[in-house]
Amino acid sequence: MVPACQVPVTVGPVQTNTPRRREYAVRRKIHATTVVRTTVTDPALHPLLSSRFSPLQFDPAYLIDERRVELLLEAARWAPSAGNSQPWAFFTARRETTAHERVVPYLARSSARWAPQASLLVVAMAHRSIADTDWSYSEFADYDLGQAVAHLTFQAHAMGFACRQFRAFDLDALTSELHPAPGWEIVSMVAVGRPTATGSPERERRSITDLRTAPWSNS
Ligand SMILES: Cc1cc2nc3c(=O)[nH]c(=O)nc-3n(C[C@H](O)[C@H](O)[C@H](O)COP(=O)(O)O)c2cc1C
Repeated sequence: MVPACQVPVTVGPVQTNTPRRREYAVRRKIHATTVVRTTVTDPALHPLLSSRFSPLQFDPAYLIDERRVELLLEAARWAPSAGNSQPWAFFTARRETTAHERVVPYLARSSARWAPQASLLVVAMAHRSIADTDWSYSEFADYDLGQAVAHLTFQAHAMGFACRQFRAFDLDALTSELHPAPGWEIVSMVAVGRPTATGSPERERRSITDLRTAPWSNS
């Protein structure tokens, strides 16, 4: 029997008129029909983890100072990485700076609704290959970058900020603008700021049972 806190979730209609949207639609359909999700957080979870969420509204009046930005990067700096390869770099753009003006034009229509109000936009880059070769710099480059961003996210949360990571931007145009060194590639962005609303009540997760049963073979 499904516990009361684990309710199957049905997903509403989605637009399917682009390849990426079609892919999302397939994934969401699979999840909607096969996955039992939970909306309840175990009270024993550390409050820093249970209270984190990705806001869609930031205080447009709050400006972050450089010292706080450095602390966020300090957290990223101390993330673990394969062979201590540290395959990450961060272009930081505080609101009301030239760096911010360089990044904002490349936001997608969806992220342009909320990301410019954040105090800080961070462009996260991975060192994927060795310059001028087709050799991989690290097979874990994206994995390690994700961990570094997670560290940054929780440091931000501990400082009273919240982060929304996002991919809704024009990758090719932003790459032309920032022109990362050979071997480096932009992967994602992070909006950091003071949230002005609490988390959505619709936040949900796959259950622990589901994490422990899929997707390997038992034979
Ligand atoms: C790599 C990555 C890309 C994301 N891209 C977007 C995005 O383009 N737009 C958006 O609104 N949210 C984006 N998100 C935020 C997720 O939708 C969000 O983390 C997820 O729904 C879970 O919500 P929560 O962080 O509040 O728990 C992204 C998150 C990650 C980690």
